[in-house]
Amino acid sequence: MLDVAILGLGTVGSGVLEVIEKNSDAISQSAAQEIRVKHILARRDYPGAPYEKLVTKDFSVIENDPDVRVVVETIGGIDAAYEYTKRSLLKGKSVVTANKELVATHGYELMQLARENGVNYLFEASVGGGIPIIRPLSQCLAANKIKEIYGILNGTTNYILTEMIKNGLSFETALKDAQEKGYAEANPDADVKGFDVCRKICILSALSFGRHVYPHQVKTEGIESVTLADIGFAGKLGCRVKLLGRAIHREDGKIAVYVAPHLVHDDNLIASVEGVMNGIIVRGNAIGDVMFYGAGAGKLPTASAVVADVIDAAKHISARKWLSWEDGADEIIYDSALLENSWYVRTTAKKEEIAAGFGDVQLIEGEGEKIFVTPSMNRYDLEDKLGGMSVSAAFRILQ
Ligand code: HSE
Repeated sequence: MLDVAILGLGTVGSGVLEVIEKNSDAISQSAAQEIRVKHILARRDYPGAPYEKLVTKDFSVIENDPDVRVVVETIGGIDAAYEYTKRSLLKGKSVVTANKELVATHGYELMQLARENGVNYLFEASVGGGIPIIRPLSQCLAANKIKEIYGILNGTTNYILTEMIKNGLSFETALKDAQEKGYAEANPDADVKGFDVCRKICILSALSFGRHVYPHQVKTEGIESVTLADIGFAGKLGCRVKLLGRAIHREDGKIAVYVAPHLVHDDNLIASVEGVMNGIIVRGNAIGDVMFYGAGAGKLPTASAVVADVIDAAKHISARKWLSWEDGADEIIYDSALLENSWYVRTTAKKEEIAAGFGDVQLIEGEGEKIFVTPSMNRYDLEDKLGGMSVSAAFRILQ
């Protein structure tokens, strides 16, 4: 029997409880022992709930219970989650989490702490919701040098963009829908402004390239600037608008990482990733391109990945899983604005102004606006050529 404590009973925490109850036979079989939830840390009481008696408001009850070998941290955010994770690891308990903010900010330090205390810090659910990606990257693709990793890493924004594309829904209605379905973060700004993708691409970069990438090192744009007009024009160009996180390992050893809306060509598999689904492409030097696809958010898909880590922690209770990377540094980061590609530009500028900056580019005319596609160039050159033009949108185009 393995005793587990769950910290936090929000969407993911309650999903973990549900999955452990619902699939107890299969879980016990995989873990080769029964997994029992012994404590739940929550801010309020749950009178009448079947787990009422497991609930405590005092973390030290969990910290000081030697039976608890695995702690599931589903509090989210940094403050309490960081403190309780450290205290659990120091007490020789493995910690399993879906908390991408904590892993992206303190992952290196927490993995070190886990190693020093002979336990594991596992976070499969932190990226891609229910999609297996952390384990495949750290184990199955370990024979490759990863050259690039990119994809749709946020279910909420992909849901919003898909609803805008397919059903012409407004941004606000689609966001409300995503919130009601339990996809969005507690503060949906983290989804809409791209911070959630930023945290996830930091984790994927660290796993792929072996050095911690911190969120403040990643240029991050969200989807607030995307309008129905852009979605319509993108369609005319054979593309779809997608929010991508992208990380490239350059030949010189530096890492370029950024988050931004892109026009993705219909031929790219990522273009057909719709709704709450996430899609991640990993480019390895031996395997070529591999794509991971599945439910990127939601209670049970995320809980599925958390519980898989609990099982793994149970099976490795006195062994360490190989999961680590080195600390990061500003010197290893390449300025992503120097990456070159074609750009989609929507502007109210006159034809002559556009021609002066970009030559003979083909123009599509909308209501008082024009759109055009630039030749391949970096962001600085683009801004230089745009000069004083009034620009409503400028997005990278991914073939
Ligand atoms: N808010 C996140 C999303 C949840 O929409 O993808 C999963 O990380």
